[in-house]
This record gives sequence, structure tokens and C-alpha cells, in this order.
Amino acid sequence: MLLPGSWLGVLGGGQLGKMFALTALTMGYRVVTWDPDPTSPAGEFASHHIQAGFHDPNALKIFCKYARAATTEFENIPEDILRALSGNMTVIPGPDPVSICQDRVREKKFLEKEGFPVPPFSEILVIEDLEVALKHVGTPSLLKINRWGYDGKGQTTVVSLNDAMKAFEDFGRVPCILEQKIPFVKELSVILGRNRKGEIRVFPVAENVHRNGVLETTVVPARISDMVAQKACQIAQEIASRLHYQGVLAVEFFLTEEGLLVNEMAPRPHNSGHFTLDACLTNQFEQQVRTLCGLPLGDPRLVSPAAMGNIMGECWSGGEEPDWEKILRNPDVKLHLYGKVEARPGRKMGHFTCLAEDADAALSRVRSILSELYHRTDSA
Ligand SMILES: Nc1ncnc2c1ncn2[C@@H]1O[C@H](COP(=O)(O)OP(=O)(O)O)[C@@H](O)[C@H]1O
Ligand SMILES: [Mg+2]
Repeated sequence: MLLPGSWLGVLGGGQLGKMFALTALTMGYRVVTWDPDPTSPAGEFASHHIQAGFHDPNALKIFCKYARAATTEFENIPEDILRALSGNMTVIPGPDPVSICQDRVREKKFLEKEGFPVPPFSEILVIEDLEVALKHVGTPSLLKINRWGYDGKGQTTVVSLNDAMKAFEDFGRVPCILEQKIPFVKELSVILGRNRKGEIRVFPVAENVHRNGVLETTVVPARISDMVAQKACQIAQEIASRLHYQGVLAVEFFLTEEGLLVNEMAPRPHNSGHFTLDACLTNQFEQQVRTLCGLPLGDPRLVSPAAMGNIMGECWSGGEEPDWEKILRNPDVKLHLYGKVEARPGRKMGHFTCLAEDADAALSRVRSILSELYHRTDSA
């Protein structure tokens, strides 16, 4: 068991790394971060920050000198680095589950082989694969690059072979996956912590709305039947067990008229779990610290219904700082800004969480604040 005072390492220095570092520091740990970005949000708070590429052998040496255990905040950490580290220290999650989650085709094949429901899909390696794939998957469908895609980037809807060929060309003919576009009723996510002994604690099922492929709002408890909630939790737990997973895992779902389909997994805390910072007894980053250190899992109980809204770079219209008073004047709303230097459209800059007497009330508060922040007339 690693107790406070120990050094914990985090690979990646974005907002998830920052929230991990802040939580670990609060609990009395010291944190070393490793990220190539000189303006990394996590690096600013770390006890020690290594600004270097992940293939820098000197950085690896320094990281090993500091860290007693390592975790990731970003699923695209090169697998060989995770393997090299696991010869020196505890690495949670381990290289095997992370490498599955890095690759959309491997991920879907794993889920399918283990009997979990996934949307129909086909692997696309060469342009000639598209015709048969489209017959199998049907239209409309989504062509997604196999690796490195996030926040809806590297994916596009296609309705014909021509579309698909053009999209594949535009992606530079890199390996892709073609997936059926699912007419879902809702999107849900389940975040859980699983420890070495295989014990699991599940956060409440979250209901998510995306805009242009990027998460916009999350509300808890999800407005679904108990049966659906139980099923989603059961699937997520079974996935974690089949992966022999240790750490915090997020599973994204589509809820359709016919039932649940697994969309994807993230081997780390998740944007749709940021409500846990303000609305749960244990937040997802504390659970990450606890699984990493071999501490007992924290109680993930929801203390209050809540909704979260993401603050994107678009809020800085014309380069002007958003009017934070619109959020801060509300005594029941919690603002989290990640401290990113540059606000670009499509970039996650922060989020806020509203606690209310029920999920509907929390979500409608979040939507009305979002419309004000984005100067929107619609609040969908
Ligand atoms: N097969 C699909 N059918 C319908 N919508 C999809 C599908 N795949 C992705 N989407 C939409 O795009 C969003 C982002 O896609 P996702 O596969 O989760 O990639 P990432 O989150 O890594 O960008 C999803 O949350 C969903 O709203
Ligand atoms: Mg996703």
C-alpha cells in the first residue's frame, strides 16, 4: 500500500492529469507529471514536472527515479512506455487494457468476442474494404480513424460508397473502422474503480448529450429505468473483470429501443464523471489515487442530483474572456477552469456543475447557463 508522502506518477498533463494531481496533493501525496507540452495544465501543479516526449530515455529515467506507481490520464501513451515502466513500478491501468482501448477495432473485437453488445462494425485497412464493409454495416454509418481520435475528431458520417471513399482519402488512408450510425434514445456512461483484488465500486450512471461529437452536458441520476441502470452497471463491471482491469474505467453506451450497446471505453477518469468532484462522496480522481495506491476503494455514493456543462474554447468569442459572473453568481454552481493558455474552438477549457433537488432541475439550470455563455438562443 502506498501511503501519503509517496510519489505518484502521471503520464500526460491535461485537465484529467491536473485534477488527479490536485486530488493526490490534497491527500498528501507528491506527484510527478510527464508531458511534452510546456504549458501542460497538470505540470503547473505537480510537485515535479518532466517536460519531454514520451520516447525520451532520459525522461523515463527521471520518471522512474521519482514515481513509486504510475497512472495515465490519456489513453494514447505509447504501449512500450507503459511496458517499460511496469518493469520498475506498479502501472495502473496496465499496458494490456490500455492498448485495447487505444485501438477502436481491437476494442470492438474484444467486446464482441466477450459477448458484449456493440454496433455492427467492419475494419477498413485499404480502400477496397469499404464496399463490403458498407454492405455489412449499412448506411448511414460512421467512418472513424482507428487510433488517436477523440472528442468526435477523426470521424465522419457517410451515406454512400463515394462518401466513404472520400472520407478514407481525407483521413490519409490510415486504418479505420466503419460503424453503423445508431439511432440512440440516450447516451449513457458508467465509471467505476476496480482494485487488485477485483473489488469494484460503480459511480451512478450518467446521461450524456454530445454536440458535434463533444460532450456538452451530463446529468445524474440518468433518467432511465432501474433495469437499464442495473444492466449498464453490470456490463461495465463485467468488461472491467474480463480486462483484469485495475484503476478507473469509463464505459460509454448507446441506449436504443432494443437495449444497450457499448460505444467505447476509456481507461481513465472521464469527462462525464466530472460531476463526481462536487456531487459524490468520493470523486473519480480520488478513486484513481485509491486504486493506484492499493487503498480501500472510496464510497462513490451520489450526494445530490447534479448536472455538468462543458466550457469549450468557443466561449471566448472574439478572443474575449467569458463573463464568469454568469456562473459565479449562482451559489449552487461550481466552476472548474483548467488553466489552458489558449482557447481554441473545440478545446475543453473547463466545466461547471450544478447541484439541485432533482436531475431535471439541475440540467435545465446548466442548459440556461450554457446558452448565456455561448450566446445561444437554442438550448438543446
Ligand atoms: N456508431 C455511432 N452511432 C451514433 N452516434 C455515434 C456513433 N459513434 C459515435 N457517435 C457519436 O459521436 C460521439 C463521439 O464518438 P466516440 O466514438 O465516443 O469517439 P470519441 O469520444 O473518442 O471522439 C459519441 O458520443 C456519439 O454521440
Ligand atoms: Mg466517446
